[in-house]
Amino acid sequence: MTKILPSILSADFANLERDIKEMESIGVDMFHIDVMDGNFVPNISFGFPVIESIRKITNKTFDVHLMIDNPEYYVEKFCDIGADMVSFHIEATNHADRLLQLIKSKGKKAGIVLNPQTSIENIKYLLPKVDYVLIMTVNPGFGGQTFIFEMLDKIEQLDLIRKENNYNFLIQVDGGINIQTSKLCRDKGVDLLVCGSFLFSSNNKKDTLIELLK
Ligand code: DX5
Ligand code: ZN
Repeated sequence: MTKILPSILSADFANLERDIKEMESIGVDMFHIDVMDGNFVPNISFGFPVIESIRKITNKTFDVHLMIDNPEYYVEKFCDIGADMVSFHIEATNHADRLLQLIKSKGKKAGIVLNPQTSIENIKYLLPKVDYVLIMTVNPGFGGQTFIFEMLDKIEQLDLIRKENNYNFLIQVDGGINIQTSKLCRDKGVDLLVCGSFLFSSNNKKDTLIELLK
């Protein structure tokens, strides 16, 4: 079933509980949580304390997207503080296979993320083991950027490989998702759509959520 995951990067950090509860009230059951380290990406977001705090106020699924170098140092702690799904960038580690195993051994869903310039070929041998693949549809680091349309071809290729091999990973996209790009991505086989600024800036979030899946 196709899902919209609000990215809390676009929430009001002074009112995080209010914004999370509002999303819950309109039917959201998964949250996308962006962790940025100021090295892998040119921005710093938040880390363990924020995730620990919001873990106390909701039981919904936490999908933690690590935009950090050396994810192998931190993955275990993100699992321990309440992530349900953890994804890391293939560009950020030489030990992707080991990391996938570690995340899964903690009973969590393991995802691999591809920056816009990275080909699917780079993760070919990981595809049988991965729970989800996140195709970045903007350059990671900031909310509110424009969707990179060339990524539609990458999504199509990945969906084809999935079908040909009977793989059962999910395909996720992140960045620049609005009503138009959501439809284009879903038509290419995307299962999980992260949506930040478009959803949080909407005056009628409930209707917007419905529109995003129409
Ligand atoms: C970007 C983040 C995204 C971001 C998406 O690096 O990974 O999750 O919040 O925001 P929008 O939907 O505004 O492009
Ligand atoms: Zn993200």
